[in-house]
Amino acid sequence: MQDRDRFYVPPIPNGWFQIATSDEVKPGEVKPLRYFGKELVIWRSEAGELSVLDAFCPHLGAHIGHGGKVKGESIECPFHAWQFGTNGQCTAVPYAKRVPRKAALDTWQIKELAGLVMCWHHTEGKPPQWDIPDEIPELDTDEWTDFELLEWKIRTCNQELAENAVDSVHFHYLHGCTNMPQSEATVDGHKLRVFSAAGMSTPRGPVEGSIDSLNYGFGLSLVRFKGLVETLNVATMTPIDDDNVHLRFNFTVKKVGGADATRGVGAAFIAELKRQLEQDIPIWEHKIQHEKPLLCDGDGPIGIFRRWCTQFYSWPEEQQAAE
Ligand code: FES
Ligand SMILES: [Fe+2]
Repeated sequence: MQDRDRFYVPPIPNGWFQIATSDEVKPGEVKPLRYFGKELVIWRSEAGELSVLDAFCPHLGAHIGHGGKVKGESIECPFHAWQFGTNGQCTAVPYAKRVPRKAALDTWQIKELAGLVMCWHHTEGKPPQWDIPDEIPELDTDEWTDFELLEWKIRTCNQELAENAVDSVHFHYLHGCTNMPQSEATVDGHKLRVFSAAGMSTPRGPVEGSIDSLNYGFGLSLVRFKGLVETLNVATMTPIDDDNVHLRFNFTVKKVGGADATRGVGAAFIAELKRQLEQDIPIWEHKIQHEKPLLCDGDGPIGIFRRWCTQFYSWPEEQQAAE
């Protein structure tokens, strides 16, 4: 079965998605990226401005992410040295008298949040229709540990990953949570909040706790855990192409009584979440997505969730109308 036949939704949704971290692209550095089924280049000018551009040079098509060099506030193509500014406009062709007027690379809108580089993707090329926060309150203090990163590439689509939060029953049967958590879902435009009281089995025995997950579209979730140790997971989910999603968990733990994300209770809790996620992966990689699932009264708020999801797609009719 083709992946596109497994899902009824378009493969790549619209929204803000993480494409890099701020500190992996230092001034003067260039990296190729592949997300949203596109080839991109991310680079930082010598003055420190970050820029994401379509990768293929309009001249003879070289991939600027492979061998391109930063020259001041421009990036230079490795093939014939055309230069482009952070806004994608061609700034110089060293061997020509005139720069061709149309010479430009498409730019991608980005925003840095807590050291994560977030990028707006819209299938029809529309500018941002909604925003993500400018900061995460926990990370403004020194009471929380530095991020501990876990990441996966998963053969699924964004909506499937997001549905996990509202599927309360699977926490018990798939993950072995001690009670049957009740999830409440609240929609506020592009935001979806899912609150669950969930018991968790840990190396120190069962613990009562809660999970408060705030989702900004499909690309960014702030997941706050209370119970054993106060933990925040800044989770980002980025479509790589029609068939794969890059999932990153950035964990931070409140430093109370010496709690640490890499040791002791903090580390045990993160290991438990990793174990749970790795139980989800084989389900996601092999399941199909029913447009009209057969639900029963004990299921979580899947209907509310599915209605919230529809706003993040350019459905095929709209794509045709836009052409
Ligand atoms: S292909 Fe980029 S300068 Fe010629
Ligand atoms: Fe799960």
